[in-house]
Amino acid sequence: MTATTTDIPNPGNLIGGQWVPARSGETFENRNPADTDDLVALHAASDASDLDAAFAAASEAFPGWRATPGIARGNILYKAAEILASRVEHIARELTREEGKTLKEATGETMRAVAILRYYAGETAQPHGEMYPSASATTMLYTLREPLGVVTIITPWNFPIAIPAWKLVPAIAFGNAVVIKPASDAPLCTIRLAEALVDAGLPAGVLNVVTGSARALGDGLVTDERSVAVSFTGSDATGKIIREQATAHGKKVQLELGGKNPAIVLADADMDHALTQVINGAMMSTGQKCTATSRAIVDRAIASEFTQRLADKIGGLKVGNGLDGDTQIGPLINAAAAESVADEVAKAKSTGTNLLVGGERMASNGHSRGHFVAPALFDGVTPDSRLGQHELFGPVLGVIPVDGLDEAVAVANGVRYGLSASLFTRDLTRAMTFVREIQAGIVHVNSETAGAEPQVPFGGYKGSSSYSREQGKAARDFFTQVKTVYLDPSPA
Ligand code: UN1
Repeated sequence: MTATTTDIPNPGNLIGGQWVPARSGETFENRNPADTDDLVALHAASDASDLDAAFAAASEAFPGWRATPGIARGNILYKAAEILASRVEHIARELTREEGKTLKEATGETMRAVAILRYYAGETAQPHGEMYPSASATTMLYTLREPLGVVTIITPWNFPIAIPAWKLVPAIAFGNAVVIKPASDAPLCTIRLAEALVDAGLPAGVLNVVTGSARALGDGLVTDERSVAVSFTGSDATGKIIREQATAHGKKVQLELGGKNPAIVLADADMDHALTQVINGAMMSTGQKCTATSRAIVDRAIASEFTQRLADKIGGLKVGNGLDGDTQIGPLINAAAAESVADEVAKAKSTGTNLLVGGERMASNGHSRGHFVAPALFDGVTPDSRLGQHELFGPVLGVIPVDGLDEAVAVANGVRYGLSASLFTRDLTRAMTFVREIQAGIVHVNSETAGAEPQVPFGGYKGSSSYSREQGKAARDFFTQVKTVYLDPSPA
């Protein structure tokens, strides 16, 4: 069945509570990376004038939203959570169609957005300051957490509903007004999240969504003087530009960037469990997570058996359209990403690294209309090679054999990233040593490197983040500022 253009969503931007087309009238296409014949939606191709309207609307809405009691803000979030929950089935299908991950993962991700709404709805009823003793007997000395103002949020395509949720929901829970630009490869889910908030009664202008290219909007998003903070998740290269621009404009900036996450497997590990977790960490979402496992650092005593079993399982993964029930691995997000991953694999192979399985573009047997690359496994990866250091953002895992925990940790730490890390062992002492010595913001013992529960801080060490954390109570640190109050009602 071919959809007519009238069936194709064309929601436009959300500016000042209205869904409006780009002022130029231009749109761009959002196509399914598993089947480029499938047009998922059309979106506003915005320019600086649309962004200007969004910042104006946010600035106008901020004073009223700031003055709204936190509990009332929370009630809107609770309602939005229920609305979003009632739409999960529909949104998850759109998520799979715009991003490519399997329907099971897309459903889980959409439910994560619901959980984030509920969590921050609850946070609005938590204490938002601290009482201190004062040197003066008559002074009440305390702090208050207050919103920053208008904040800019720039999100990636790989978690098209969870990441927008975990940035914009705390931003508005704590009283800020938001201008968000979702990634052009998958903007529809941000719009679905915004619709749930609007339908729940979020006042006009508190949340503004502007879609369009980074080229047209990037500078304005980061440098507009009406916005006081920027939260960004995405590539290292863009993060560097944003850090420089935002800092030069005196803004608060939060960056979540790359990872080269290790899973260390010791000889005493439960091998079946480690195999499943390492493969899930490396291959789910087609390896397109900054928390994905890209290095399996394996004790030499079990390396050949473990690697052989990895190869068998990875070679057997079913690659296809995420809407098909038996698909385990979806496509890469776009043609350029698929080319780049396949090129990196070819390069590593040509420099002598042992490719055991996968790595090629898949173009036949139902794969011809999508951006598919067969999940790949390399053996004997040198820690300081490009494959051992460079983030590929695709379904590629490299095995690095080592002798024992100390060497494993040294190798794990020998990269410029430090987002997440896993250890598989049954030995509590080794587990404690790993937790102490590993340079990573998120540490797992006997579970995969990916995953993020909403109530705990999320972020990395070293080049992975900007020393600020997202989610949980950490989000409050970023999206609020502290006011210290010396209140003496009866000065002597
Ligand atoms: C997860 O592992 O479930 O962009 C979340 C990313 C991360 C989010 C990972 N910021 O991949």
